[in-house]
Amino acid sequence: APAQFIDQFQRRFTYLRLSITDACNFRCNYCLPNGYCPSGDESPLALTEIEKIVAAFAFNGTKKIRLTGGEPTLRKDLPEIIAACKTTSGIDKVALTSNGYRMTKQLPAFIDAGLDQLNLSADSLRPDTFKLITGQDKAREVLAALEQALALGMREVKLNTVLLKTYNSHELADFFNLVKNLPITLRFIELMNTGDNTGYFNAQHYSAQHIQQQLIDEGWSQIIRGPDAGPALEYSHPDYAGNIGLIMPYSKNFCASCNRLRVSSEGKLHLCLFGDEGLDIRSQLQHASAPELAAHLRQLVLGKQAGHQLHLGNTGHTRHLAMLGG
Ligand code: GTP
Ligand code: 5AD
Ligand code: SF4
Repeated sequence: APAQFIDQFQRRFTYLRLSITDACNFRCNYCLPNGYCPSGDESPLALTEIEKIVAAFAFNGTKKIRLTGGEPTLRKDLPEIIAACKTTSGIDKVALTSNGYRMTKQLPAFIDAGLDQLNLSADSLRPDTFKLITGQDKAREVLAALEQALALGMREVKLNTVLLKTYNSHELADFFNLVKNLPITLRFIELMNTGDNTGYFNAQHYSAQHIQQQLIDEGWSQIIRGPDAGPALEYSHPDYAGNIGLIMPYSKNFCASCNRLRVSSEGKLHLCLFGDEGLDIRSQLQHASAPELAAHLRQLVLGKQAGHQLHLGNTGHTRHLAMLGG
């Protein structure tokens, strides 16, 4: 068995979020400010580099890989990347976070390649508001892709909705209605201040505590969290096919159960979404074996901080989440 992959706070890293591009075809107004173009100075990780990284994490006991972006479907070789992750010994689950752009065309190929879980985003169910937020008219496409994923037999299908005071806080009843019949998990995410979006954050941040109170009042019950549960608190209700999750990074105990690490598309290890500028691992990929890289990773995680301190106003070094895939 591999040596322990835990940090100073006894947190174990069973989950890697791997960004495979920082490019995106949406311009969500809280993420990529208008006209902003991701750096592109560094070429994104090649398939062979991805294979080495995933093998090293798997050697350390990581079981789940979530592929993120930017928008990961912009990579033409995404089916090959999914297959490479899925066939790595030790990896049980391969997940994808996508904005859903053209998803219905591509999803069958992703599933054939081994994709297990899909998270899509819709910050509004209304086509016009969706377009105002993202710059793209894809609300219907996202909903169609959710239904298709279920029809194709996927069992973990999630929809992310970032709470935005003036754009969607009055649309919550429509979102609740969506999960009445659709067996997905809808997660409301509190808008995070990434430094690039401070003005927007101040104008739009809406606490999920409002929804938490509504869930309690309306008879939803909190699902007991398993050891590998992510950051969302999840609720179920007998009259609803789907569940509702809340991702509340501004509540204080969020980080104590962190199980994840991130690698950017430029091949930097990020110990926290907000904490650090990223530690180079790319330069080792050609020469180090997977067990050697794994040993290096075990050293690096000892530097992981206790928490991101978002509630104290930290915005860290992550200027927008397209850099790191959230
Ligand atoms: P699963 O649990 O695998 O479904 O993943 P997830 O919910 O973490 O993934 P997804 O990519 O759908 O991200 C949803 C939201 O959660 C995004 O806004 C992420 O930035 C946020 N998120 C995920 N992990 C963390 C974390 O460790 N810290 C913070 N602050 N936010 C996170
Ligand atoms: N705060 C909260 N969520 C964000 N996302 C992107 N930027 C932010 C932010 N600043 C969300 C996307 C997507 C998920 C991966 O992260 O909308 O649902
Ligand atoms: Fe929107 Fe995600 Fe693209 Fe950012 S990376 S613009 S949140 S789709």
